[in-house]
Amino acid sequence: MDELSWEEWQSLCEMMNGFIKTQVLSSACDLAVFDVIERGATVASLPSQLEINEHGCRVLLLGLKQLKLVEVDEAGVIKNAPLARRCLLRGSAQSMVPFVRLNDKIQHRACLHFTQALREGRNAGLDEFPGDAPTLYGRLAKDPSLERLFHEGMGAYTRLSPRMMAVKEFADVSNLLDVGGGDGTNAIRLCERYPSLKVTLIDLPSVIEKARANIEAHGLSDRVTCQAVDMFADPWPHGCDGVIFSHVLEIFSPETIGLLYKKTRAYLDSQRGGQLFVWSLMCDPDEAGGLQSVKSSLYFVTVASGQGMAYPLRDHEAWLRDAGFDVVATYDARTIDHCALVAR
Ligand SMILES: C[S@@+](CC[C@H](N)C(=O)[O-])C[C@H]1O[C@@H](n2cnc3c(N)ncnc32)[C@H](O)[C@@H]1O
Repeated sequence: MDELSWEEWQSLCEMMNGFIKTQVLSSACDLAVFDVIERGATVASLPSQLEINEHGCRVLLLGLKQLKLVEVDEAGVIKNAPLARRCLLRGSAQSMVPFVRLNDKIQHRACLHFTQALREGRNAGLDEFPGDAPTLYGRLAKDPSLERLFHEGMGAYTRLSPRMMAVKEFADVSNLLDVGGGDGTNAIRLCERYPSLKVTLIDLPSVIEKARANIEAHGLSDRVTCQAVDMFADPWPHGCDGVIFSHVLEIFSPETIGLLYKKTRAYLDSQRGGQLFVWSLMCDPDEAGGLQSVKSSLYFVTVASGQGMAYPLRDHEAWLRDAGFDVVATYDARTIDHCALVAR
């Protein structure tokens, strides 16, 4: 038998050991390592600063150096790499620490059930979360601290990219219906960017409480109305000339997305027209990546709803045509596995 080539072994190692990268990152964020290093740390001082033993700290540093998140100079002084400084400090504007926690405590935990989900054709990862609701969102409603962790993570993930805010058609909208608006992260960003915009945010009851508190904390209660509405079962509040789905549609099956697009069409018709905005994870056109779209698709199938995928752009275009929409603009964000669509 031939020896494996270096490339083959590296490639196999990447696949077998990917979870180690996730684990090093998650543990580092749990321990606030990057914040401690930013305040000043050496190899000798770090164990006591983190309140862990020297050997454990040595292994943690081995992992962090492999990930190129920190560097250690000859005197033993540890420095954060630019990416760690930008995205892994708890207080930075683009901090992804809350999303790393969501990734670790919900997505990774649930994705361990992927094989079972495939075999049983159901979101078997839900078994990790007590309750009998058929989706993750129903289960989270019964676990306030996990639900808070989820929405803090989603907020950080959604805030990471400024791309959606650059969709110029938002300027034509007076009152935007934010369907599944979560903790209000988008409503707040959009109101800050478009001074005359009003937003009506709908979500499940336990989430609406969080959204209201967040909107109030940003002094936007006069511009953003929050209502507990089930987007499938309930009629949508009247008076909006725009509808946005951000990180919502990809959770569901093509049939359900088709129904939501048709419900949006009927809604906008009843309001004498308007625009539909979609901000969604989307995979590459050849359905061969990228990695974040693959991860999210596994998570949707294994836990979120048992359906869903980061569908390619052409799927959304076809469903929109079927629902009677004209796609008027697409804003590509392939570097982060996303795309924005505007339809009328
Ligand atoms: C992935 S989060 C997206 C949150 C936000 N739009 C964003 O981009 O960060 C999906 C949201 O859909 C909401 N949701 C799920 N099922 C719903 C339903 N039946 N009716 C209303 N909202 C729902 C969840 O509570 C959650 O806030």
